[in-house]
Amino acid sequence: EKASGSLGRFPLIPVRGVPLMSLIANNWDSIWDFRPDPSDLLIATYPKAGTTWTQEIVDLLIHNGDAEICKRAPTPVRSPFLEIFSPPPIPSGLDLLKTMDPPRVIKTHLPFQLVPPAFWENKCKAIYVARNAKDNLVSYYFFDRMNLTQPEPGPWEGYIHKFMQGQLSWGPWYDHVKGYWVEREKRNILYIFYEDMKENPRREIERIMRYLDLSVSDEVISRIVELTSFKNMKENPMANYSCIPAPVFDQSISSFMRKGEVGDWRNHFTPEQSKMFDEDYERQMKEVNIPFRTLI
Ligand code: A3P
Repeated sequence: EKASGSLGRFPLIPVRGVPLMSLIANNWDSIWDFRPDPSDLLIATYPKAGTTWTQEIVDLLIHNGDAEICKRAPTPVRSPFLEIFSPPPIPSGLDLLKTMDPPRVIKTHLPFQLVPPAFWENKCKAIYVARNAKDNLVSYYFFDRMNLTQPEPGPWEGYIHKFMQGQLSWGPWYDHVKGYWVEREKRNILYIFYEDMKENPRREIERIMRYLDLSVSDEVISRIVELTSFKNMKENPMANYSCIPAPVFDQSISSFMRKGEVGDWRNHFTPEQSKMFDEDYERQMKEVNIPFRTLI
């Protein structure tokens, strides 16, 4: 028996070769069969690439920058997490979606090949957010320490190898970023980068606005830039995941809104680890040219 209130760290079970938390793997058929409405929007990411940030930007764009409306509920209630399953009474992503009318903003970490095919049959719009591998890895390491439903991250050095070998929850980062990259034109996926959002949030927010066929004033864009700054989101209880109880997200170990920077990897990788990682990266990424930046 787990300690009261604690869900415990779930083992990973492969679904078509991709390791997923057992609660997801055990409910796989219902996830795969999900049928979105054509008006639904998918926000897809590898974990820790800037999902929550993008969800907030989209919610604000849809609501013309209305901060109060966008504080109506925590992020995962406003924008359900498609594949997440928790033990009752916490609703699964699918149960939550059943209670909402389209158009909905749906979050997923599934790699392209595991996204329910009805999204593409229905020509749903999709935004993919990618973050450079080293910062993504660092962020995931701290997250796996504080998210007590994910497998134990173990020591840092070993974690780097698990990342390189695609053994973390939701599988390899490399296949994930490549999978959406090669499909982006055919599927009309908006592919954006965390580093670009940091460098010039206004430009990227406007890019998202155009993709969604929305039109908001310059003044509202400025407000959205401000409301979605790292500092403001860290202080926003409806965006900082303080809604998730400590037995699940122990934010005393590491904040969900941890650092929010580009290049933090330099504080964690030794020069040897960085060299080893880069050499392997060249091998794993050689067939594509995705313009990642590890510094801005
Ligand atoms: P760090 O751990 O590097 O701080 P996700 O939402 O996909 O789980 O990603 C979480 C990462 O995005 C965390 O990275 C978090 O701090 C960062 N993040 C969240 N909101 C942000 C914002 N408004 N600006 C910059 N980074 C943000």
